[in-house]
Amino acid sequence: APQLQYRGDALFLEDVPLAELAREHGTPLFAYSKASMLAALAAYQRGFAGRKAKVHYALKANSSLAILQVFARAGCGFDIVSGGELERVLAAGAQGADIIFSGVGKTRREMKRALEAGIHCFNVESEPELEVLSAVAADMGLKAPVSLRVNPDVNPLTHPYISTGLKGSKFGIAHKDALRAYQRAAALPGLRVVGIDCHIGSQITQVSPYLDALDRMLDLVDTIEAAGIPIAHIDLGGGLGITYNAEQPPAADALWQRLLARLDARGYGDRQLMIEPGRSLVGNAGVCLTEVLYLKPGEQKNFCIIDAAMNDLPRPAMYEAFHQIVPLQASGGKPVTYDVVGPVCESGDWIGRDRKLAVQPGDTLAVLSAGAYCMSMASNYNTRGRATEVLVDGSTVHVIREREDVADQLRKEKLLP
Ligand code: LLP
Repeated sequence: APQLQYRGDALFLEDVPLAELAREHGTPLFAYSKASMLAALAAYQRGFAGRKAKVHYALKANSSLAILQVFARAGCGFDIVSGGELERVLAAGAQGADIIFSGVGKTRREMKRALEAGIHCFNVESEPELEVLSAVAADMGLKAPVSLRVNPDVNPLTHPYISTGLKGSKFGIAHKDALRAYQRAAALPGLRVVGIDCHIGSQITQVSPYLDALDRMLDLVDTIEAAGIPIAHIDLGGGLGITYNAEQPPAADALWQRLLARLDARGYGDRQLMIEPGRSLVGNAGVCLTEVLYLKPGEQKNFCIIDAAMNDLPRPAMYEAFHQIVPLQASGGKPVTYDVVGPVCESGDWIGRDRKLAVQPGDTLAVLSAGAYCMSMASNYNTRGRATEVLVDGSTVHVIREREDVADQLRKEKLLP
């Protein structure tokens, strides 16, 4: 990204030298570029220019309050998946009408709170959920706006753990059951049908799965509307990938040009469109700075032990995901091949394998593409506090989350009498 660059031999995020950030705030440290987030959003907005369309940021990717504020101020809506995320977006200044609520397991309490907040729509994932939502809304004298998440059964060509639109998946309503579910929804007293949605997976790097999913959805829209149930909006979910290593995902505007052309060709150009991107708005806006603690030569491998771990950066352990790891200061030294690992007591606690690095203990490294699904998936495993986060805006640095200390972690615990 243009926001992350070596100037001379020092790595900068916007106009801030990262070495300075690490010195000032300690490590591990997450730093995000505001300009990079806004540029990613602008690519979607360009793709949609002149259309009735809205971006709902899927905040599970990074739900830190200040990140949400940046998107709220830029006119984004939000895709939430829990009552906790609802409170976060409201705290960040979003309006109920900007919010859609996804997820397979919404509780009655979460539904009630979302109805009180006046959210735009519930993305419902099963017939039993329709019944419960209708009952909750009817109790409050309301009609809940619903969209059904259908499972288009297309292969997103990505990692199996983040594929969600195939037949064997827990997500969505099967394509063949969708009409019946819509008829049920239209008949229930506490519901109002407003749309249709899908989400086929994440880190998608090709256009074709999206086009296939859109075709399958439009087939359903034909059938559902023929049965007398109008579908006001079509939501294509999230999932657009980013470059971690050598991937070449389509740009958001290019992807949308293809999708809009298909919509127009099939006569659905007039619909309200929605998308729920997470990773592609924040992933490459963030880096995690980490200090090299020890270099440990081994018989088969050399280890570079850093102060960030799987509790901060869980993606390699969970998905064998690749994140680039680069020095903050280009060094003249001779590179050695290391496995870059954290201090946590698990063999799965690695951040990068077989990386060529010229480093010394005390050096700082940057783990790249750490803006999405890192802090939001961070844990306290090994009683490690979650890291500090800063937002960089030009040459200004805002601390947006203080480092968690042990007292924070012990606060809710009770000793026996
Ligand atoms: N909408 C729904 C209903 C979703 O389930 C998701 C992500 C999104 C939107 C946003 O997808 P995105 O644009 O970020 O791909 N932890 C994994 C990714 C899990 C994605 C879960 N659902 C990872 O680190 O790769």
